[in-house]
Amino acid sequence: MAMHLGLLTSGGDCPGLNAALRAVGRAAQDCFGMRLLGFSNGFRGLAQDQTVELDSKQLSGILTLGGTILGTSRDKPHRMQIGGRILDMTPSIVENYKRHKLDALVCLGGGGTQKNALRLQRAGLHVITLPKTIDNDIVCTDRSFGFDTALDIATEAIDRLHSTATSHNRIIVVEVMGHRAGWLALEAGVAGGADVILIPEKPYDVKIIADAIKMRTRQGKRFSIIVVAEGALSKADALKVQRLIVSRDAAQTKAARDKISQTLDKFHDQQRLGHAVRLTRQLEELASQESRLTILGHLQRGGTPSSADRVLATRLGTACAESAAEGRFGVMLGLQGNEIVPVPLEEVAGRKKLVPVDYPLIRSAEMVGTSFGC
Ligand code: F6P
Repeated sequence: MAMHLGLLTSGGDCPGLNAALRAVGRAAQDCFGMRLLGFSNGFRGLAQDQTVELDSKQLSGILTLGGTILGTSRDKPHRMQIGGRILDMTPSIVENYKRHKLDALVCLGGGGTQKNALRLQRAGLHVITLPKTIDNDIVCTDRSFGFDTALDIATEAIDRLHSTATSHNRIIVVEVMGHRAGWLALEAGVAGGADVILIPEKPYDVKIIADAIKMRTRQGKRFSIIVVAEGALSKADALKVQRLIVSRDAAQTKAARDKISQTLDKFHDQQRLGHAVRLTRQLEELASQESRLTILGHLQRGGTPSSADRVLATRLGTACAESAAEGRFGVMLGLQGNEIVPVPLEEVAGRKKLVPVDYPLIRSAEMVGTSFGC
């Protein structure tokens, strides 16, 4: 009896998702004779039985296509908003999986997806995941697909901002994605020759950044490019967050914990909406130089995948079909060195790969004169 694979994409979209779907699908169908069934909009489609046909016609011509032909969402199986209520949809998911007589579910997603996949594996499903995110913050894989394309987009933007910053003698702050992890800011900053790089893992002091800019002015360099990850924090804010986390963890009651979590969420919300604007104004004042802000936002997630992402997505996707054929479930397939390796979901779920403060690229950046504002 041919194996039947369910496929879904979950979390924020990124370039390479369609390339990975194509690879899983073609290898599964053509090499192992499996049947495929897609679910739309992440775990919601699986919970509400919204299916998408995935035959060779649907899988054709999508290698270079951005986004995901299945659609995606950030819905969690165990806390899904349905008709104004938050419901645990795990039982419906298990029921739909059984009704379609699926042998395995393939989930293409980021950190949140790995956690949800483990929950479903524990609920009795056979699950295999592939790591996608432009943030590159999934543990046990050197790279997630989507990252390389976003890196190219951010680097090109920094290159373009250089010429306008030089012409006007301005400071240009460029915000790139990355709430908790600074991989994209760090690598794009280094590739684009940023003068200052700010990442969440290294809280900054705005006066140190202003001093670095003033030093450049004294050296006759009348412009500066500041690359900031959206989750970068000043030292004072990092301390505030740290204190809130400590008091939340020490809180005696659920109500007290929830209240502190709400305060934390509110802080992160305000940070997301206003941090780069505040930083740009502060720098204009402290360095006495005209400043502008560019927020790259979702441009970094859109459009056609880079060649490296197409290759990685194809390698991971074909390895996924092989893993299903061999009956190896409960794993994420990751890139380690030049190998694609299966990693137990327990080792991945709930963890985040942050930039180590002693990461060699940070030292290299400092050696070529880049400041981290600390
Ligand atoms: O998927 C990760 C990510 O790209 C983060 O870098 C960013 O903070 C977030 O998604 C934005 O998510 P959304 O598209 O849901 O606003």
